[in-house]
Amino acid sequence: MRAIGFEENGGPEVLRTVEVPNPDAGPGEVLVRVAYAGVNYAEVQHRLGDFGPPDPLDIPGMEASGHVAALGENVSGLAVGDPVAVYLPDGGGYAEYAVAPARFAFPLRTSLGEIDLRTAGGVALVLPTAYGVLAGAARLRPGDSVLIHAVAGGVGSAAAQIARALGADTVYGTVGSSDKAEYAKRFGYDAVFPREDFLGAVRDATGGRGVDVVLDPVGGPTRLASLEVLAPFGRVAFYGEAARHPDLNLPLLPLWKNNRALTGYTIGDVSRRAPDVLRTHGLAALELVASGSVHIDVTDILPLAAAAQAHERMQAGRNVGKTLLAV
Ligand SMILES: NC(=O)c1ccc[n+]([C@@H]2O[C@H](COP(=O)([O-])OP(=O)(O)OC[C@H]3O[C@@H](n4cnc5c(N)ncnc54)[C@H](OP(=O)(O)O)[C@@H]3O)[C@@H](O)[C@H]2O)c1
Repeated sequence: MRAIGFEENGGPEVLRTVEVPNPDAGPGEVLVRVAYAGVNYAEVQHRLGDFGPPDPLDIPGMEASGHVAALGENVSGLAVGDPVAVYLPDGGGYAEYAVAPARFAFPLRTSLGEIDLRTAGGVALVLPTAYGVLAGAARLRPGDSVLIHAVAGGVGSAAAQIARALGADTVYGTVGSSDKAEYAKRFGYDAVFPREDFLGAVRDATGGRGVDVVLDPVGGPTRLASLEVLAPFGRVAFYGEAARHPDLNLPLLPLWKNNRALTGYTIGDVSRRAPDVLRTHGLAALELVASGSVHIDVTDILPLAAAAQAHERMQAGRNVGKTLLAV
C-alpha cells in the first residue's frame, strides 16, 4: 500500500511517499481502508523527534476515517464495510490502510444520524482529547467560566464548543495572531484575545475574578500566566507543548496560597490505562457532532502526497480549523 513515512527526524522534507505491505488486524483490532487522515500537531512533534527517533520507518497519523476492511479475532459490534472514525495510538493514519484497536473505532452511524467521512477524518484524536481535558482533567462544571488557548486550531475549536455543551457559562479564547481571532469568533466565544496580553484582558473581562478553568496546550510563559488568571479553586488543565518551551520547575506553595490546581491530560496514557473512559469520551463527543452542537471546521483537504505541505503550515502556526489528507 501507499503511505507517507519518515526514516529520520527533521523538517517536513523528511516525509516521503513509501510502498509498504498492508498491515493485518490482530486480536481486538480492525483494519480500516482510510478515506481521510487528520493532520495534528502531535504528528509534527513526532516527525521533529519529540517522541523519539523512527523505528526504522514511522508512518504518522493518529486519526482517520474510512470503512472497516477486516476484523481481527474477538471483535464484536462492527462489521466489514461499516464507516468509522479511528483513533490510532501508534500512528499509521497517513496510509491507504490502518489498524486500530476496535475499542477506538467509533461508528459513524449514530442514534442521531450519520457523520460524513470528511468530518470524521478530523475527530478521533481531537474529540476524545477536547472532551477528556474538559470533563476528565479540568472537571468542568455547569456555570464555569473557561479560557482556551490556541482556540482557532483543531483541539481548541472543538473544545470551545464542547465546553458550551457541557454547560460552561463564559468561554474566552486566545490566539497567536489577529487574523485567527477573526476566524475563531465563529465558534461562539464571548471574546478572543491576543495571547501576548491575555492576562490583563481576562482580568478586565471578568472584573478581576479570573476564570474557573484554563485549557493550555502551549506551555512556557503562557502556562505561568494562566495560573495567574485562575479564580479561587480554578484549574489549569495542560495537554501540550506547542511552543516547545523547556519544562517548567514550579514551586508548590503558590498553588496552596492561591487555591489553584494544575492538572494534566495525555490521550496515550488514557488509551493504555483507561481505554473505556477514552471510548466514553469519544462517543459522547461524537454525539455532539451528530446532533449539530459541535461543528468540525474542515478548512483544507490536501492529497496524501502533500503531507509535508500540511506539516509545514502547521509547524509555522499558520493553520486554522482542521486540515485533512485525502487518501
Ligand atoms: N495531550 C494530548 O493527549 C493531546 C492530544 C491532541 C493534541 N494535543 C495538543 O493540543 C494542541 C493542539 O493540537 P492540534 O493538533 O489541534 O493543533 P492546532 O491547534 O490545530 O495547531 C497547533 C497550534 O498551536 C499554536 N502554537 C503555539 N505556539 C506555537 C509555535 N511555537 N509553533 C506552532 N504553533 C504554535 C498555534 O496556534 P496560535 O496561532 O493560536 O498560537 C497552532 O495553530 C497541541 O499542543 C497538541 O500537542 C494534546
